[in-house]
Amino acid sequence: MAIQNPARTEKPAASVVRAPDLPRPRQAETYRRATRVLPGGANSNFRAWGERTIYVDRGRGGRVWDLDGNEFIDLRMGYGPVILGHADSRVDDAVNERMRRGVSFSLTSEDEIRVAELITELTFCDMARMTVSGTEATMHALRVARGFTGRDKIVKFEGQYHGVHDYALISVLPNDVSALGDRENPVRLAWGRGIPRAITETVIPVPYNDLVTLRHVFERDGDDIAAVLIEPVLGNAQGILPAPGFLQSVREMTREFGALLIFDEVKTGFRFAKGGAAEHFGVTPDLATYAKAMGNGYPAAAFGGRRDVMSVLPANVSHGGTYAGNRVAAAAAVATLTILRDTPALETIRRTGEAVQRGLDEVISRRGVPHVFTGHPAMFGVMFAEAMPTDYRGWAGTDHELYDAVADGMMRRGAMPEPDSREPWFICEAHAADDTVDRVVGIFEAALDEALEERARTS
Ligand SMILES: Cc1ncc(COP(=O)(O)O)c(C=O)c1O
Repeated sequence: MAIQNPARTEKPAASVVRAPDLPRPRQAETYRRATRVLPGGANSNFRAWGERTIYVDRGRGGRVWDLDGNEFIDLRMGYGPVILGHADSRVDDAVNERMRRGVSFSLTSEDEIRVAELITELTFCDMARMTVSGTEATMHALRVARGFTGRDKIVKFEGQYHGVHDYALISVLPNDVSALGDRENPVRLAWGRGIPRAITETVIPVPYNDLVTLRHVFERDGDDIAAVLIEPVLGNAQGILPAPGFLQSVREMTREFGALLIFDEVKTGFRFAKGGAAEHFGVTPDLATYAKAMGNGYPAAAFGGRRDVMSVLPANVSHGGTYAGNRVAAAAAVATLTILRDTPALETIRRTGEAVQRGLDEVISRRGVPHVFTGHPAMFGVMFAEAMPTDYRGWAGTDHELYDAVADGMMRRGAMPEPDSREPWFICEAHAADDTVDRVVGIFEAALDEALEERARTS
């Protein structure tokens, strides 16, 4: 759902007091300690924010507390997995009960079968296998597609993030979009060093929503293309939406050229709808990957799909993992997927997201700032732009500097969206509680006024 607003001319409120920086004495010390032993002071490049790296103490529901005791309304929700809320006792109790029976056997438990049954019940998949992370899920889905078709090449879309294996790290999220090359003939841009050239040569990037370039690629390389790997929305560009008919056309083109269609539903799965983005957009792929929302934050992930495609396992394609389907992940997934299936949690999340969007829309419109909402109410972005961009290149043309300033102001006022304007806000079931929606909108309003006033002062 995109709401687009005509620009109005009202001025921002005058004389907004800049919210002070939050106290961080313990985190400053922790950062110094961490950087001695953890590169960048964190276990992922994506949360190594220099001196501003956050060291977490705890979370509950839709809130999170850092080591200095600063409380935030959490709009990151761990990059999406925490669909119900932090420390949800329905999931934690199920996990604890299982943990007490031992966690690692490299033998198959009944819970693992239950997870696959739940996935097949909720989605288009006939069969599924668990992995430990979304990265592994996309890596294995690609291998299964290659094993099934006997072809090597993969088409992916610029600005789409599918994890950190080599095949996924092509044309992902450059700050300078000109590095992506001509849109008719995009560069295969490896993200960082260490990715062999031979691998980049098997991955063909295409701008999202660009059927002309996609057809050109299929006409040139169709006989070698095993699969199109696509996140149904541009999840790492605030959830830019597919143009009407785009996903359907991709579906038809893959069939025309004998390639498989893989939906990367790591973020959208069990969030956009019980059946994920495939159900939401009414397009059925051949394979899909799931992770985040299926475990409410526990490291549960999976890939699955058509029975004939998945049947290349176990005889003809390698898949394994000591921790694949481990006790903790399987118990978390059974509990989370059962809650999502049997309760109106997703409906609550959708309504909460819509309420936040309505509040933001009113606030931004009153100040005459052009904006659009991207994504789905459960995972949305707000872009300061006249119209929603159609692809990652278009993100660069949005006023993301304004967004960055607003995100910073929100953080100082006790709400935590991702500081990077490309990451959407994630809504969880617990955000429906108390006055969370009103507080988010109020904090956003104060941060927007501060950012607009700062801009007016410095321009
Ligand atoms: C669409 C998508 N695919 C894959 C991944 C990788 O998942 P993980 O971080 O669990 O490896 C992510 C992570 O953010 C993602 O958003």
